[in-house]
Amino acid sequence: MKQNISPVGPLKGTVEMPGDKSISHRYAMLASVAEGESVISNYSSGADCHSTLRCLRALGVSMMIDGREVRIQGRGLNGYAAPSGDLDAGNSGSTIRMLSGLLAGQKFTSRLCGDESLSKRPMQRIMTPLAQMGARLGARDGKFPPIEIEGGELRPIDYAMPVASAQVKSCILLAGLHADGETVVREPATTRDHTEVALHEFGAEVVTGPGWAKVRGKAKLRARELRVPGDLSSAAFFLVAGAIVPGSELIIAGVGLNPTRAALIDFLVAAGAEIRVLDIGMRNGEPVGDLLVKASSLKGGEISGSLAASLIDEIPVLSVLGAVSENGLVVKDAAELRIKETDRIATMADNLGRMGVKIETAPDGFTVPGRQRFGRATVDSFGDHRIGMACAIAALRAEGDVEIENAEAASVSFPEFWDTLRSIGH
Ligand code: S3P
Repeated sequence: MKQNISPVGPLKGTVEMPGDKSISHRYAMLASVAEGESVISNYSSGADCHSTLRCLRALGVSMMIDGREVRIQGRGLNGYAAPSGDLDAGNSGSTIRMLSGLLAGQKFTSRLCGDESLSKRPMQRIMTPLAQMGARLGARDGKFPPIEIEGGELRPIDYAMPVASAQVKSCILLAGLHADGETVVREPATTRDHTEVALHEFGAEVVTGPGWAKVRGKAKLRARELRVPGDLSSAAFFLVAGAIVPGSELIIAGVGLNPTRAALIDFLVAAGAEIRVLDIGMRNGEPVGDLLVKASSLKGGEISGSLAASLIDEIPVLSVLGAVSENGLVVKDAAELRIKETDRIATMADNLGRMGVKIETAPDGFTVPGRQRFGRATVDSFGDHRIGMACAIAALRAEGDVEIENAEAASVSFPEFWDTLRSIGH
């Protein structure tokens, strides 16, 4: 599918985001191993979170999906049924990595596979700790999906992750639910803590400190009624749109503002964006609020060190902001970008180049000078949701029409993206 985006005047209105992708995966997985029926509302409409539901169904978990409400009958910690075929995680790294943690504790062998992009993403990062816990794992070339997991009794570990990854941390904590004792994970930089928060909501014994999280295994999780906040990483596209299109004023309602994700707001404000948090409350241990963004003159900034891990999903659209800011954007210490749904340094550089924007890439980041203009072009999502949506935001400030190829990729996290964009003035 192609989408043609024309430059626009001021963007105005109130928009809602789909349910947070990270939180939706976690609620569904924890509900599936809890005792009783959980009701999850505002579950992400994105294909990735539905890949998680599909895998859970293949493991014998009954559920009812009614639009954005999902009712899940928990089967208890060891209650999954052996699947009759491969578990297909589609495009979803979160599904394959986090579900592996739960599968490592089941007394059967399962195989997880994914689409072409997922089949190229590294899995050693979860295989190493799960093997230390006692699971037996195999993968294509020892590191890529499909991965095979022979589960069973697990022992607790104290594991220092070599890379800052919330998916890996979550995989280990979920496996830790099966181990007899305390499993500890240590991270080199702070990553999103939705698993820790959700584990607590479901009644697990979980303790956190600076740079570590610990869970006690063999706990009984209790079913819950939960509401997923709007997705802040999806909101990033509209925050940047509102900041860069002159005269804009947008409200993004009901967005998750967990401090381990909200570095985005601080970064944008430091870059010169005018953003206000209008209303904030707590829901299921997660802060939620409305955001107001107004167009303003932008300075740009630098993303490096631990900030790179915090902003990893938003960097593609922040490169768009960088290009039209005064001083541009420098990104360092973000080599993880190269192993996302696409090599996001390469795919973003390719697209910015097509729009006539200068960008200099490095193995772990890039530099986009400021005060640039986006030209008329045909760009490509390359099958990566965040790349397609970042290009759409650039197109709002372009000098002519921008055609986006493979635009359907947005559905991985945000099927309503194109309609939402139209609703505010496009
Ligand atoms: C996610 C963690 C991040 C992020 C991904 C979702 C999660 O990945 O990029 O979109 O839900 O835990 P890593 O943990 O691999 O950095």
